[in-house]
Amino acid sequence: MLCRSKHIAALLVISGFFYLIFLWEKFRKDFYIPPPFEECLDSCIVSTQPVDGEIEHGRIQDLLDLREVVAHNGVRSNPWKECPVPGRGRESTFITAQVIGRLGNVVWSYLSVVATAKQYKLRPVIDKASIDFLKKMGFKESSLRVPSVEWLDRKCGMNGWLVRTYADGAVVLNEKRDLFLSLEQPPTEGYAMLSYHYYASNAEEIIPIWSDIRKELVLRDKYTLNARRSLDEMKKKHLKGLVGSVDPEFVGLHVRRTDYLRHLSIVHPNGMVASPKYYHTAMDWLKKQVDRSLIFIVISDDPKWAETEIVDRRSDAYLPGSGDIYDPGLDLALFAACNHTIFAYGTFALTGALLASRPGSFTVVFDPLNGTITKEMEYASNLPGWRIMDEDGNLNYDRFEIKFRYAYG
Ligand SMILES: *[C@@H]1O[C@H](CO)[C@@H](O)[C@H](O)[C@H]1NC(C)=O
Ligand SMILES: *[C@@H]1O[C@H](CO)[C@@H](O)[C@H](O)[C@H]1NC(C)=O
Repeated sequence: MLCRSKHIAALLVISGFFYLIFLWEKFRKDFYIPPPFEECLDSCIVSTQPVDGEIEHGRIQDLLDLREVVAHNGVRSNPWKECPVPGRGRESTFITAQVIGRLGNVVWSYLSVVATAKQYKLRPVIDKASIDFLKKMGFKESSLRVPSVEWLDRKCGMNGWLVRTYADGAVVLNEKRDLFLSLEQPPTEGYAMLSYHYYASNAEEIIPIWSDIRKELVLRDKYTLNARRSLDEMKKKHLKGLVGSVDPEFVGLHVRRTDYLRHLSIVHPNGMVASPKYYHTAMDWLKKQVDRSLIFIVISDDPKWAETEIVDRRSDAYLPGSGDIYDPGLDLALFAACNHTIFAYGTFALTGALLASRPGSFTVVFDPLNGTITKEMEYASNLPGWRIMDEDGNLNYDRFEIKFRYAYG
């Protein structure tokens, strides 16, 4: 009897052992990363920003993101994560930005750094806090290719030079001339660091690479999938009871209020604030341009106002977003999934418009009149499919001189 239960126990132990091996193999198979990208962790677009030189294990979402990037883009090398060599002129010149503010500000500072690095073949870096913030706000770690100051300094044994210079010692770019003067005197020994001041948004350098620069900021699948689901639901709701209607198109409409109104009154004291009339005029204008029925997806930092002034007055507008400024991923993903964009001003909506823009799409921005030119109008006057409209529906696209002012070489 005793002998038999010993046998059973032994059998159990052995089969348990094999079961564990089976589980381990399954786990490896599911989350296995092929060697090519382990080898180039530091230098590939697919690498995560290694916090301490390696991926934190257990962050499955990151691993899945990595896989996806590889599947879609193949392995692209990322020379920005290689160690810099001193005394090589522009190759030894860092470009960065001082960053503060909410998502929109961080995004456009980051993109200004990327665009300038690409344009002049400089080395982009940014503080770790900004990269962490962009990750937290919903962007894929694997798409954020700019290394952090802290990480590159440590990885390349720069003895704190990069960190110290970033904190206090970079040449601050207040205007274009500052950048050009620095580029005329590239370092022949050591390194140089140039830095945008707070709230940078260098339209002049971002516009020429508009479609390309979207790859630098890719939203996590979680948000993209939820946004698609949300649009599908809205479509069903909208088409209920309508017979024979063709597939509608979606318009992301952003209403920025709260703190921006004060901002506008300080920065552009003569400019008008976008009234409900502007939004309705822009919506009706777009309906005439597009040969499909339109569904307006309204997103706002003041959802109550947006509901009373816009959504409640129409049968084609919905307010689905979270409006949560601490988790804006879903709102951005909703914009990105829409076919067109309407907004007045603000870098958050500008980010949405960037993610949404594709050939054939329209973007309408607001003209506050009285000689006010917002940052958003600078983009609008230089991109196809973009229009600048005042609240009476006048398209003021032509009022602005459109120059090709990009500095080559
Ligand atoms: C332009 O600014 C003036 C004040 O400087 C104001 O009285 C006027 O209403 C503004 N015009 C518009 C169209 O906002
Ligand atoms: C419009 O957006 C929807 C939802 O993202 C998409 O399925 C559709 O292909 C888009 N239509 C066009 C013409 O791009």
